[in-house]
Amino acid sequence: MKLWGGRFQGGPAEALARLSVSVHFDWRLARYDIAGSRAHARVLAAAGLLTPDELGQVLAALDDLDAAVETGTFRPTVEDEDVHTALERGLLERLGALGGKLRAGRSRNDQVATDLRLYLRDHARGVAFLIKELADALTEQAARHVDTPAPGMTHVQHAQPVVFGHWLLAHVHPLLRDLDRLRDWDARAAVSPLGAGALAGSGLPLDPPQVAKELGFRESFANSMDAVSDRDFVAEFLFVTALLGVHLSRLGEEVVLWTSQEFGWVELDDAFATGSSIMPQKKNADIAELARGKAGRLIGGLVSVLTMLKGLPLTYDRDMQEDKEPVFDAIDTLSLVLPALTGMISTMTVRVDRLAKAAPAGFSLATEVADWLVRRGVPFRDAHEITGQLVALCAVRECELHEVSDDDLASVSEHLTPEVRDVLTVREALAARITPGSTGPGPVAEQLSKVVEQLRAWHEWAS
Ligand code: ARG
Repeated sequence: MKLWGGRFQGGPAEALARLSVSVHFDWRLARYDIAGSRAHARVLAAAGLLTPDELGQVLAALDDLDAAVETGTFRPTVEDEDVHTALERGLLERLGALGGKLRAGRSRNDQVATDLRLYLRDHARGVAFLIKELADALTEQAARHVDTPAPGMTHVQHAQPVVFGHWLLAHVHPLLRDLDRLRDWDARAAVSPLGAGALAGSGLPLDPPQVAKELGFRESFANSMDAVSDRDFVAEFLFVTALLGVHLSRLGEEVVLWTSQEFGWVELDDAFATGSSIMPQKKNADIAELARGKAGRLIGGLVSVLTMLKGLPLTYDRDMQEDKEPVFDAIDTLSLVLPALTGMISTMTVRVDRLAKAAPAGFSLATEVADWLVRRGVPFRDAHEITGQLVALCAVRECELHEVSDDDLASVSEHLTPEVRDVLTVREALAARITPGSTGPGPVAEQLSKVVEQLRAWHEWAS
């Protein structure tokens, strides 16, 4: 069963057929292809190219085929080159010669571009739903830790204390941006290529805007050549999923650190951790590591499609068949990773005691000393220098900042009076951070309620 061959003397070589075949992956587009066929059949009928009776038969056959595809009773065979070929076979089996009328005015070039847009627009919402679930899980954990002090880090070195809820919410904001990006992408992807034909539009009186409307697109193509050449929607989708993969990887990396013996801040639920085949004591954060590892293939998908496209002359080139597997793989990958991360995050136990103990370590309150000096009129440049000397002294004495004697304070600087100890607690440092977006419990509580509201607003779009 082939869609071409009239001018050929013999059949294709086995090696060509094997290279060319795409039905093993593009079969996912079957039901979207059928949706496009329904719209196309109506347009052909409106143009007088199908009688009302023929239209009725074609639509009934398409419904029957759709149901057979859904239940799996109609499947592609090794003979079918691609999804379009297989479905035309299904139609011919049901309608005889009438089934061959539907190809009028249509090419696989505009069909495949339409199918992939429909597929991705549908699945983008599924991915969004899974992102939202992970964001919800992080937000619920954050809500429990609006008052939990933790050591904030830069360069994986203790920097300044934060509340752990703030840290968890810092992983939610990238996900909110990912959701935004998906919806923005969807608006740009909502253009129908159907009716562009192979590249030049059609000499038959088709109605691309009507087809676009029926398929849920905002509008139809403006330029038939662009319509069949354009894979921006694929590359852009892959950028969104690659960046999402990077976000999940960074979250994964932190969970790996947090659950290590050295940090010990988080304990994973048994159901979301793995053991070792040889070391009975092991409890590993494999979900977090797989999330980190899978970022590689998500980024790879983007790179492979951009590379495939970069030298292509307009309009359709067969290279473009390579556009599908990366997006399918991105969706499959995310459908595995996101629910696993969500389960891991929502069931993990945060060791509040260990976080609190670690929060002031590594002289993380040194900035408080410098800020205290600044409030007393010392220029920050000098305050920084003085505090640095105090830290050096503490390192020698092997004590914390608040533990140095009054004499030692005075020996470092006349400005360092014993009152400086008032700011040398984690509570004080956190309570001082009251400006919007800061890590103080007040602003974090406000941030949390905004995030909860923002996530709720995604409920409808993400499904
Ligand atoms: N399987 C092809 C693809 O995915 C369908 C379009 C084929 N068009 C063509 N002119 N050979 O791109």
